[in-house]
Amino acid sequence: MKHNAEEFRKVGREVVEWMADYFTDPGRFRITPDMKPGDLIDKLPASGPDWGEPMEVAVKDFHDLVLPAVVHWNHPRFLNYFGCTASTPAVLAEMLVSVINTNGFNWTASPAVAELEQVALAWLRQWMGLPDEFFGIIYDTASTSTLHALAAAREVTDPDSRIKGTRTGLRIYCSDQAHSSVDKAVITLGMGLDNLVKIESDEAFAMRADGLEQAIEADLAAGLTPCAIVATLGTTSTTSVDPVADIVGIAKKYKLWLHVDSAYAGVCAMLPEYAAMFAGVEQADSLVMNPHKWMFVPVDTSVLYTRHPEVLRRAFAYNPAYLSSSQDPRAVNLMDYGFQLGRRFRAVKLWFVMRYFGLEGLRKVLRGHMELARDFAAKVGADPRFELTAPAPFSTVCFRLRGSDDANRALFDRVNASGEAFISQTVLRGRFSLRVAVGNYATEQEDIDVVWKLIQSFAARA
Ligand SMILES: Cc1ncc(COP(=O)(O)O)c(C=O)c1O
Repeated sequence: MKHNAEEFRKVGREVVEWMADYFTDPGRFRITPDMKPGDLIDKLPASGPDWGEPMEVAVKDFHDLVLPAVVHWNHPRFLNYFGCTASTPAVLAEMLVSVINTNGFNWTASPAVAELEQVALAWLRQWMGLPDEFFGIIYDTASTSTLHALAAAREVTDPDSRIKGTRTGLRIYCSDQAHSSVDKAVITLGMGLDNLVKIESDEAFAMRADGLEQAIEADLAAGLTPCAIVATLGTTSTTSVDPVADIVGIAKKYKLWLHVDSAYAGVCAMLPEYAAMFAGVEQADSLVMNPHKWMFVPVDTSVLYTRHPEVLRRAFAYNPAYLSSSQDPRAVNLMDYGFQLGRRFRAVKLWFVMRYFGLEGLRKVLRGHMELARDFAAKVGADPRFELTAPAPFSTVCFRLRGSDDANRALFDRVNASGEAFISQTVLRGRFSLRVAVGNYATEQEDIDVVWKLIQSFAARA
């Protein structure tokens, strides 16, 4: 069968035109859809067509029916979660990669996937100031990266687990602010949530190193088996920073695997002014950073670095005859370093973004976002009706109205229902808190001013 390349060319041109318009003004749509759950399902047929339709018909339905149900993460006033903006070079990469649709599970299946991933991750490693011995691999999300890091830690502490199943009492330590992906990894690996020890955080929401050491000692005294520590650089709620330099010492003392979750803030390792904050990460056993959070690479792109690739291989290399690949030492078979087989060619979008922005270009955008966040925090601090609820070391500001949780919840609902801005919420020390995370490529001072005025005006009506 021949593809209908002419139809593709015609519709493709229109699609690219639309994409360019979208990039020209990512703020032209309402950020959040005005819809009820089920609205889109109800608008679409319950079964697929018996006979194919012209491509334009599906594209038209995408515009008319799907787009109105979209949250526009690229919108400059999308300040919820952590921003996650597509960028022009990354989208071109996605298009190219979709066309070739190469599946790079091992070197023989697609040498380009195996080799470009190593090149892009070596560049990224250098930009982040990480040691050369760190081996990098791209997974879909930080949740998957952390799962693999903890699987490697388990492999070291309990090598029989692969054959006999995870033994009981393998202990994992993280702070009470760590991301739920740690909990999910522990569940998935069969370690049991009872064995995930949440160490109390201090007033700045950072893990207390003394509390960590006490917990390890208590576990040893109780006959349990400490296995790994997860330290977070840039926690999800407040972007707090665990004291990695101190935690490294504890990990070494007790011979535990140290995994650093810098899914959001890892990109700031590129900034010399953040060197002190990142001190110690070079001694970690593994580290995750997500280019799909604050590096303008679209979902899904998460990078795991580890100084022990041989441990990952031990945990996951499992090669049936039908998957045999080159055994040349330079031929990396990425399927050996994780549980997935099929592998998208994600390195192209990362590589395009690195080439398009360059290190200095990225630094400039990141510093611009920090500056906007500082400005927002200053605005909050200058209005006596509000208070800041956490330090803001990066580009995320937590704050609240001085008053009840209900008043804050109502403010949050009104701001987001307006469709003019999309901010986030969290609970800090038992109190509802609002949260603004600057990280979208298109966000500018004017957007911050608009959002702050909106918040102030709704607060006046609270
Ligand atoms: C610190 C941190 N770690 C891990 C994750 C999970 O990221 P992913 O969605 O890539 O699994 C997040 C998500 O926001 C996060 O903030």
